[in-house]
Amino acid sequence: MSGSTITPWVVGNWKMNPMQANTQQLLADLKQQLEQASIPHDVCKIGVAPTLLALLQVKNELATDAHEVFVVAQDVSRIAGTGAFTGEVSADLLKDSQVDYVLIGHSERREIFNDTPAILNEKIKNALAANLHIIYCVGESLEQRESGQAEQVVLQQICDIAGVVNPEQWVHITVAYEPIWAIGTGKTASPDDAQAMHAKIREGLSQITPEGQNIAILYGGSVKPENAVELAACPDINGALVGGASLNAESFVQIAQAFAQSK
Ligand code: PGA
Repeated sequence: MSGSTITPWVVGNWKMNPMQANTQQLLADLKQQLEQASIPHDVCKIGVAPTLLALLQVKNELATDAHEVFVVAQDVSRIAGTGAFTGEVSADLLKDSQVDYVLIGHSERREIFNDTPAILNEKIKNALAANLHIIYCVGESLEQRESGQAEQVVLQQICDIAGVVNPEQWVHITVAYEPIWAIGTGKTASPDDAQAMHAKIREGLSQITPEGQNIAILYGGSVKPENAVELAACPDINGALVGGASLNAESFVQIAQAFAQSK
C-alpha cells in the first residue's frame, strides 16, 4: 500500500490502431474482461483513447454504468469552436459529443507533428475552456537522460503549461510521465527511476499549485502485466498510460487490476 489518497487511473492509448474488425473484437474482449474483473470506479478509473473514428462507438459500447470506462481523445485542435478548419476537431466539438477527456502533449505529437509548447498551450487553454479533463504528457529523450538533463526537461514541460492553467483549473489536469526511450521499446524505467521522477514532478507541481499533492501522475512506457505490480507499488505512481499492451484486453485489465490492488 502506498498511502496515497489519489485514486489510480489506467488509460489505454490505442494510438493509430486497430482496423475496424479488430476494434469490434477488442471491444468484445474488453467488455468480457472488465465484467470478470469488476473493478469499482472508485478503486481504479479506467479509460480508453481510441482513434477519433472509433471514439463514439467505444464510448457507446464501453462507457456504460456496468463498466464506467471513460473515453479519451488522443489529441485536440489548437483552434476553438467551429469553423472552416479542414481536418480539425476542437475541444468544443469533443465536449459536444460528451467526450470529456483528452491527451495533450504526447511525445509522438511533439516529435512527429511538431506540437511546440506554444501550440500545446493553445490546446490546453481551449480544452480547459471547454471543460475537458486533460492528461498532459511529459518525458525526456534517451539523449536527454544520458546527458543528465531528464529532470530539467520534464520540469520545464510542467512549467510550460503553468501560465495557461488558472489556479482553479489544476483539478482538471492529470500528468503522464512517459520517458520517450521507454515508449513502444519494451524498455521500462525501473520502478526506482520512475518513482524518483514522479516525486520530482509532484514537487514541481506543488510549487505551482496547492493541488500538486492531489494530481494523479501516471507512468507510461512499455507498461505490461509483468511490470505493473512493481510500478503500482510506488507511492507517486498513480496509474498508467498504456500503449501496446492496451490492444490486448486481458493484458490491459490485468494492469488495471495491479493498480486497483496496490492502492
Ligand atoms: P507503450 O506506449 O505502452 O506502447 O510504450 C505508451 C504511450 O505512448 O502512451
